[in-house]
Amino acid sequence: MSKKIYVFDTTLRDGEQAPGIHLNVKEKVKIAEQLSRLNVDVIEAGFPISSKSDFKAVKEISKRIKDKSIAVLARAIAKDVDIAGESLKDASQPVIHTFMSSSDIHLKSQFKKSREEVLEIAKEAVKRSRKYTDIVEFSAMDATRSDWDFLCRLFEVVIKSGAKVLNIPDTVGYAIPSEFANLIDYIFENVSGIENVIVSVHCHDDLGLAVANSIMAIEHGARQVECSVNGIGERAGNASLEEVAMIIDTRKKDLDAYTGLNISEIMKTSSLVKSLTGYIVAPNKAIIGKNAFMHEAGIHQDGMLKDRATYEIIKPESIGVTSSKLVLGKHSGRHAFVKRLKELGFNLEGENLEKAFDRFKGLAEKKGAINDNDIKAIVENEIRDVSGYFKLKYYQILSGTNVTSTATIGIEIDGKLHQGVSYGDGPVDASFKAIDSITKMKVKLVDYSIEAVSEGKDAIGSVKIIISADGMDVMGSGISTDVIEASIKAYIDAMNRVMQGCA
Ligand code: KIV
Ligand code: ZN
Repeated sequence: MSKKIYVFDTTLRDGEQAPGIHLNVKEKVKIAEQLSRLNVDVIEAGFPISSKSDFKAVKEISKRIKDKSIAVLARAIAKDVDIAGESLKDASQPVIHTFMSSSDIHLKSQFKKSREEVLEIAKEAVKRSRKYTDIVEFSAMDATRSDWDFLCRLFEVVIKSGAKVLNIPDTVGYAIPSEFANLIDYIFENVSGIENVIVSVHCHDDLGLAVANSIMAIEHGARQVECSVNGIGERAGNASLEEVAMIIDTRKKDLDAYTGLNISEIMKTSSLVKSLTGYIVAPNKAIIGKNAFMHEAGIHQDGMLKDRATYEIIKPESIGVTSSKLVLGKHSGRHAFVKRLKELGFNLEGENLEKAFDRFKGLAEKKGAINDNDIKAIVENEIRDVSGYFKLKYYQILSGTNVTSTATIGIEIDGKLHQGVSYGDGPVDASFKAIDSITKMKVKLVDYSIEAVSEGKDAIGSVKIIISADGMDVMGSGISTDVIEASIKAYIDAMNRVMQGCA
């Protein structure tokens, strides 16, 4: 009989650990709500001991999302477990996910613990977690580089202590599929009590094998896959949710498996995570890249015209890719805008809707025809919940050959207008320096990228930047048909996020 594979989403925990990603509470709630629409089984909402903001986000998500399991991470330390339990008080299906390393390299070099000590630590952590919830997941960090027999002993101890889910992480993305399959088989054969728990896998993508290893694990009996939207996560990231989902969906007969995911929400979830994290998706990325369903070669186009199945294994509309040619313009009213928003899957209300409609009107004045990608860019920008401590009022740029670029920027702070003027190495540099002269914040530009949202010379430019402030990397984004304006907005957005402490 076909088996259900549980999807454990770690976008808000491992995903949020990726460098430069700092989501605030409202943004985390938005992503959690979208994950709920996508119908993942478990939302790993955070690591509550790591920050007040994480704790708050978990509490908020637990209050709002009642039909999903909400998991939180806790080291195998009493304090972590207690805070995790506290953060989940309002969750209707709470999961404490506690972990301890199992590989000798981690034990010797990092934790200075013997294997016997690890068994004791894990046992205590699981028992303590069980005081807060019946569903406790235990992860043996760096499992794939651990001694297999020790790993089995450790899993037996945690099962006896009350763990209901055993997670086998490939923490450093080292495993190759055949070896991972052998490890899973070994665990099934040698851990007593394994038949009473769910075996989960959590693969990182350092060698580009996270998804392959996850699928291999499913074929060898794993029932839960831990993954993240767009594959974001530590270093090279985690197994990408959309790839895992669509492999299982496309090859369900061969895998004899299915998920409960609502795959028509995939594209929307991916776009939301992309815009809130600022992590750009490569155009050739499987499933969600903008070229994933484009056919360039003449022979492919010819085949597609005759029968889509010649070169298309997934119907783009099945994952929510819209191909509407409908264009709105400056004469389109609120009704048409709202209708199109709904068709694109956005349910904006109140202030967010007003802001988005104003932006739409402003853009339509400048650009004329507004297509779906423009609308998505507007909405994704408006839904970022960043308080506007610094408000851009105006800017003027002087730039060209044989002149030093100069920027004059007006920013309102607490109702008072401040002006900054600076020259720089190009208009963007001059603008950022002018802003610095007003905010007086010590920040360093770490990354800057620009992407055209739609086609044509008047396409919206979407700028994403990362600044470093007090050792923390913070992302900012801005959109405009004018790339300098988009850059200024992105910089101010990042400053506002620093002011907000990303809380
Ligand atoms: O990669 C890893 O090992 C983890 C654990 C905490 C599960 O993220
Ligand atoms: Zn991980």
